[in-house]
Amino acid sequence: MERQSTLFDSFSLGGQPLRNRIVLPPLTRSRADDDGVPTPLMEEYYGQRAGAGLVISEGAVITPQASAYPRVPGLYSPDQVTAWRPVVEAAKREGAVVYAQLWHVGRQSHSSVQPDGLPPKAPSPVAITGYPYRSAAGRIPYETPRELTTKEIAGIVQAYGAAARNAVRAGFDGVELHAANGYLIDQFLNDGSNRRTDHYGGSLESRMRFLREVVTEVARHLPMERIGVRLSPSSVWMDANDSDKRTLYSSVVRLVSDLGIAYLHLVEPEIAGSTTVDRPAASIPTAELAGLFDGVVIVTGGHDQVSAEQLLADGIADLVGFGRLFISNPDLPHRFRAQAPLEPLRPTGIYGGGPEGYTDYPRWQEALPDPLFPTPGAPTRTPEGDTAS
Ligand code: PHB
Repeated sequence: MERQSTLFDSFSLGGQPLRNRIVLPPLTRSRADDDGVPTPLMEEYYGQRAGAGLVISEGAVITPQASAYPRVPGLYSPDQVTAWRPVVEAAKREGAVVYAQLWHVGRQSHSSVQPDGLPPKAPSPVAITGYPYRSAAGRIPYETPRELTTKEIAGIVQAYGAAARNAVRAGFDGVELHAANGYLIDQFLNDGSNRRTDHYGGSLESRMRFLREVVTEVARHLPMERIGVRLSPSSVWMDANDSDKRTLYSSVVRLVSDLGIAYLHLVEPEIAGSTTVDRPAASIPTAELAGLFDGVVIVTGGHDQVSAEQLLADGIADLVGFGRLFISNPDLPHRFRAQAPLEPLRPTGIYGGGPEGYTDYPRWQEALPDPLFPTPGAPTRTPEGDTAS
């Protein structure tokens, strides 16, 4: 007998009911306007993916300085808050709980997109050397960032709080702090990018101070059980290098566990930013870190329906994110449930542009007859296995 799918069990996140264990994870799609104001096209995109139990928005930058790329949405201006409202409403159309991801890229920005035209600021003046910056004119080297003063750090902590307050005003149910993939919070955590000698650098405790301060500040604006934290503990993407990642991320997981946040969102070791790589030799098993967290765990990265069910059955994850599959299959939960074929991801339109590669992926019924709900007279079709991305 076939085992019942656990992906379709309901769940409670921070006291809010989720209709399934399927998560739309944060995905940079660059369809806001030039001022970081969400657009009607984004409303359509999120509305198409509203069948997830939990929708996490693409990274929304907390200040103009926090952005790496044009057309990334923000959560710092009144116009942005107003324009997010219909987008969030669309994402909630089928009952999803909707979180905003709060993002600051630190040294992953570039002078060409900074308001003052100068290199970005980061914990320490250490440039990324192993990866290029994705500029409008192609891939170019990163610049050496300017070192943040302690006063500027305090300002950024405040800006996280203000963005969280704006997220609530825009209708989001909670926020996720992007502390993964070598962005600002991760730059403070890793000793390769944090060479500070003040109380934000040096010891583990000091390198975790910025994250602790951000969580604490954000918790002034919404309950702790509405704050998630995303980590990529094994990733060295964008020179996220540390002399002892296992000790570092074990400590970070214990810290956020003790703080009592809503969830821990772990990126699998095989994911490097937006690409899949061989599992790094020194990777930390996701199960090991998940086991240190006393609360809800989301796991994302290269999973398909079968591997996701396994994560749930093994008690490693409570919820599973599907990024690339959700880009090309807006009705992914429906397709999973019906064992329908999956649409492959096309290379065009992943970052920026218009509807192409963004809102033009078909719902299953539009493309094929549905064997669960056959149209009278239509040819029947045998369900196929799904395709991992
Ligand atoms: C990307 O734009 O490629 C990107 C953004 C955020 C991430 C990873 C990748 O966390």
